[in-house]
Amino acid sequence: MITTSGLTKVYRARGREVTALDGVDLHVREGEVYGVIGQSGAGKSSLIRCVNLLERPTSGTVTVAGQDLTALAGRGPRAGKELRRARSRIGMVFQHFNLLSSRTVQDNVELPLEILGVSGRERSRKALELLDLVGLADKAKVYPAQLSGGQKQRVGIARALAGDPKVLLSDEATSALDPETTRSILQLLRDLNRQLGLTVLLITHEMDVVKSVCDSAALMERGRIVESGTVSELLATPGSKLAGALFPVGGEATGEDRTVVDVTFHGESATQPVISQLSRTYNVDISILGAAIDTVGGLQVGRMRIELPGRYEDNVVPIGFLREQGLQIDVVGQEPVLVKEGAK
Ligand SMILES: Nc1ncnc2c1ncn2[C@@H]1O[C@H](COP(=O)(O)OP(=O)(O)O)[C@@H](O)[C@H]1O
Ligand SMILES: [Mg+2]
Repeated sequence: MITTSGLTKVYRARGREVTALDGVDLHVREGEVYGVIGQSGAGKSSLIRCVNLLERPTSGTVTVAGQDLTALAGRGPRAGKELRRARSRIGMVFQHFNLLSSRTVQDNVELPLEILGVSGRERSRKALELLDLVGLADKAKVYPAQLSGGQKQRVGIARALAGDPKVLLSDEATSALDPETTRSILQLLRDLNRQLGLTVLLITHEMDVVKSVCDSAALMERGRIVESGTVSELLATPGSKLAGALFPVGGEATGEDRTVVDVTFHGESATQPVISQLSRTYNVDISILGAAIDTVGGLQVGRMRIELPGRYEDNVVPIGFLREQGLQIDVVGQEPVLVKEGAK
């Protein structure tokens, strides 16, 4: 649904050049919620603004719903109308809502429809329908100043949906909201994704956001995507930074001459019988340093950190046994040599 290839953005300001995007290849599938996470300055906003051509990319291409937007933008003023139409199919939600304070809630939602030249009666019908969808049917006639932050963002979302978009872009939509309101807005985005089949690309600096709603995620650092995949692919990738952050497991090694192993399992499988079998078969004392079960992106995941006596070299056979059981094994402090071993 969204593809960028070799996307580059260089800002030139007062004789200085800042490379905000440095060859970004992004693939967002139809119907998924895709999260891009990264620290401030990583280039996340530049990416999302280039995806809807609010910002003109320096090079590279952006394709949304099969349409090459960069080619349209490059055709000059005569393609303007086509580009505007393509863009109306991409909704955008902002951190600070960007509502017009002099307009009622309903008139804010109608604004993009006015620009598209939709008739007054149809605009009104559509706006009320959308306000109902986001749970604000009773707020149509009030002004933004009378709303809470969460309600303002609901208006922002209703406005973003006015052009019946196939894609919703969200730039830190929950960053100005408290945790409880954040949860309700994320739930709304998830519901819209499911009910309308809407593809959502969201940008955040908060791992919890990715964890609660995303099907796929990418990690951005200094204008590049350094890791990406579906949540289950990431969790099954040894050494993945995103997986570690999405699903941390505590527990420190107790001394030298010890091998610490993270055992990850998905869905139904359980580690407990395997661990006791390992202990019996190889006659080793296994310490459990930490364990956690969590739901990540709607997926049940468990992880256990165990410690075996002896160095890694001494434990190749028991570790091999664990891998044979179909469990994902990450030896802590060991380079991930066998990428994808144990992955589903
Ligand atoms: N309009 C601009 N002019 C010059 N530099 C910019 C502009 N917008 C962003 N930048 C720079 O580009 C880099 C990436 O910024 P941004 O895309 O906003 O990152 P993020 O959203 O991840 O915080 C930063 O170094 C930022 O200072
Ligand atoms: Mg930003």
